Amino acid sequence: MKKIWLYGNWKMNMIPSEAEEYCKKLLDALKKEPGAYSKENLEICLFPPFISLPAVLASISKAGMVRAGVQDGYFEDSGAFTGEVSLKMAASAGASAALAGHSERRHIFGEENEIVAKKLHKALQIGLTGVLCFGETLAQREAGETMAVVDEQLRSAFEGLDGTEGKGLILAYEPVWAIGTGKNATPSDAQEVCAHARRLAARKFGEGDYIPVLYGGSVKESNARELLSQKDIDGALVGGASLKADSFLAIYEAFRKGFEA
Ligand code: PGA
Repeated sequence: MKKIWLYGNWKMNMIPSEAEEYCKKLLDALKKEPGAYSKENLEICLFPPFISLPAVLASISKAGMVRAGVQDGYFEDSGAFTGEVSLKMAASAGASAALAGHSERRHIFGEENEIVAKKLHKALQIGLTGVLCFGETLAQREAGETMAVVDEQLRSAFEGLDGTEGKGLILAYEPVWAIGTGKNATPSDAQEVCAHARRLAARKFGEGDYIPVLYGGSVKESNARELLSQKDIDGALVGGASLKADSFLAIYEAFRKGFEA
């Protein structure tokens, strides 16, 4: 059975006390069947809001299996940037990963490819796992521009990285029209774009360091098996269904049980 990356983007949800309760439930579930949830076959990373990061870190610290990251972070280390939290600060608080270029950052907060690249590069430089999110809007898909948009998002994010900086990089294909809408890309559409992204990454960084490619956009228990079984989909970046520990873990369970069946 292949290894699965199960990443949970909580977005602007979960105060510290809720985060603590969630982590307890998640760890209890993981402990129940330790064989099923080994590090070799599952990597879990939670992306709480900054305010709940310490609660998550404190709750998961003994488990080893669950990591925590941030949904965003500024590329400068410190200074007069009111309202921002730097990636460096997040790392020193214990985060081990950061999303960059999530579609809500791009489309609600106007982050362009150039800013996304700076954030991704900073995350990788300071040793965080950098999860680069990319994907087309519905209008772009309908205009047949999906691959061109994806190419441009990946090319601009990779520019300025040297061939050794692929270590620590994860790609997450998240078609904008599938996020939080209940509409997921068909497994074959998702596979096609993920395979394409994998090829672009291999061209840039070589075949040496494995760069996982995740799919995100309305992933839930009922569609997990088919999506995660695709050759070039290594895992899922989950929003809505990650907000409850049981529905989050059910995504992996659906894949695992499907595999064993
Ligand atoms: P969703 O969100 O699972 O609620 O569609 C995914 C994401 O935004 O990462």
